[in-house]
Amino acid sequence: MDKLFVCNVCGHIEFNHIPEKCPVCGASKVNFRENPDAIIPSEKEGKEKHVPVITVTAACGMIDDCRDIHIKIGSTTHPMQQDHWIVWIDIYVNNNYTSRYTMLPDSMQPAVSIHVKKSVTGKLTVVHFCNKHGRWIANAEL
Ligand SMILES: [Fe+2]
Repeated sequence: MDKLFVCNVCGHIEFNHIPEKCPVCGASKVNFRENPDAIIPSEKEGKEKHVPVITVTAACGMIDDCRDIHIKIGSTTHPMQQDHWIVWIDIYVNNNYTSRYTMLPDSMQPAVSIHVKKSVTGKLTVVHFCNKHGRWIANAEL
């Protein structure tokens, strides 16, 4: 079981260590706290709308040596409303943070597509934050 360390400034999670500074917001390491409950268990009520669905494609349509990875929040798509939406999606490869996608609910759907080098293998992790229901997680094999 990975240890979860949460940035109290932006809500980002680091796995198993505290970084010198938050890779998302730049806050110093004193802002991180261990919190084993930082991610909602994927069997909890609301899982249909919150557990990320990850689809790894064999090839990218735009770039050589690349594969598309489609990420959608919920098997039943999560709402995007003024009072209830997916605020951000963080992506990790082998437990190392790689990118954050932030969203406002007016125009956006709770989904993102990313491009990952084919030479990169291992575990892809998606953590997202719903403003009402907290952080949820899913993994896929690269
Ligand atoms: Fe929600």
